Amino acid sequence: MAQKEDVFKKIVSHAKEYGFVFPSSEIYDGLGAVYDYGQNGVELKNNIKRYWWESMTLLHENIVGIDSAIFMHPTIWKASGHVDAFNDPLIDNKDSKKRYRADVLIEDEIAKIEEKIDKEVAKAAKRFGDSFDEAMFRQTNGRVLEHQQKRDVLHSRYEKAMNDNDLKELRQIIEDYAIVDPISGTRNWTDVRQFNLMFKTQMGSSADATMDVYLRPETAQGIFVNFLNVQKTGRMRLPFGIAQIGKAFRNEIVARQFIFRMREFEQMEMQFFVRPGEELNYFEMWKETRMKWHKALGMGDEKYRYHDHEKLAHYANAATDIEFQMPFGFKEVEGIHSRTNFDLSQHEKFSGKKIQYFDPELNESYTPYVIETSIGVDRMFLSVLCSSYEEQQLEGGDTRVVLHLPKALAPVKCAILPLVKKDGMPEKAREIMDMLKFDFACQYEEKDSVGKRYRRQDAIGTPFCITIDGQTVEDNTVTLRDRDTMQQERVAISELPRIIGEACSLNNLLKKLV
Ligand code: GAP
Repeated sequence: MAQKEDVFKKIVSHAKEYGFVFPSSEIYDGLGAVYDYGQNGVELKNNIKRYWWESMTLLHENIVGIDSAIFMHPTIWKASGHVDAFNDPLIDNKDSKKRYRADVLIEDEIAKIEEKIDKEVAKAAKRFGDSFDEAMFRQTNGRVLEHQQKRDVLHSRYEKAMNDNDLKELRQIIEDYAIVDPISGTRNWTDVRQFNLMFKTQMGSSADATMDVYLRPETAQGIFVNFLNVQKTGRMRLPFGIAQIGKAFRNEIVARQFIFRMREFEQMEMQFFVRPGEELNYFEMWKETRMKWHKALGMGDEKYRYHDHEKLAHYANAATDIEFQMPFGFKEVEGIHSRTNFDLSQHEKFSGKKIQYFDPELNESYTPYVIETSIGVDRMFLSVLCSSYEEQQLEGGDTRVVLHLPKALAPVKCAILPLVKKDGMPEKAREIMDMLKFDFACQYEEKDSVGKRYRRQDAIGTPFCITIDGQTVEDNTVTLRDRDTMQQERVAISELPRIIGEACSLNNLLKKLV
């Protein structure tokens, strides 16, 4: 575990050192859980967004995009339930003055008990070797059963308190289980209070005409309130979807793990509107479609899993997360939710406007049901970064850090490197750059030894390095070095667009999805 945490720290500093992600406002000591994307980060992020956008809008005739405003009428958030229920239970430690989510403190306590069980199992597995029967051991070992019972009692108390929104009971659990603040080590806690995660600001210039507005905590509501606009102007017939990419804001109490949980982040959401009664079939379809999208990147099928929700929000009739194996465990990257007709009905109620679809085949009007796919761009970025990062020991005692980014997502597709700055090589290199730059993100580099330049390109995940040497000037061939294998081959300049295109094109990635 400690080793994985070390790797994660290295990834965070690598992201900064190589222009992927910087802490926001760094010269003013940063701003909690807000980050800026650097010159390589923005390219990787844009490529992720393009992959998602094109997979939605090009590959589905019945999905169109929109770009709605971040500010929306405040009643939208009343209708959606965010004003009343988008809360986290918070608690402060009076000694450290640190603020925590009460639910996270209790979940950490449950995880500690589970770790104890796992340790017992691991110890026994070592002792018994091949003859070890894990299931039997878990059912019969005294110490395991004791821990398990403690865990189950705590879990059911916790679950009930959360379901009942019982803040007093959450406080009591923290008291009963002697949960201490990890910083001060004390149990000097305040009461548990609800904390709304939406950022509020004022709109309007004169004091008496201002209105409280919120920074949107999800992009989805911009889609719901535009349902009729898009359906009517696009003459859309059910089933159809509306996709959107945009910023969302949440005043997270505990912002942890780099860009995993941020206060300003970006979402890629798609609402798919269907006939009532058909939603669960489409839910299954979107579960599969979205998993295929992730796996097509080739980062390792075993790194993904579904986490089906047992407890559903009152308006949902199915929900699952796609989780990715981060260095700190399997974590949610995307949510797929069957949200019934809740949102459209709520907006109908609160706005007083009829939001219905006339189905020409059934010759009747109704409120469509919705399947939502919702993925965080930043979490996707983090999963790509974490799974790509490798520190490699090379023959001869040398090491390199390489990002094995999916080639279609790499910020730079090829580096163009004249071996030396003379003998016509820079000029030839510029010619190649001028030929390739319209199709591929290229980087021209002539400083330092070619070995050092290769390492810099490996560190930002550039799939190909093209080296221009003495022979190039004579016969129009170059060496083409592959990032992952480090193999070099001599190829004709005229072959470069085909070779790089085949390996790096987004189209080839999209073709895997159909
Ligand atoms: N419209 C549904 C919705 O917003 P969600 O599960 O709250 O659902 C969807 O969020 C996705 O947005 C998550 O799976 C995650 O990838 C991303 N996300 C949510 N909160 C985030 C945060 N604080 N920082 C970064 N990404 C976040």
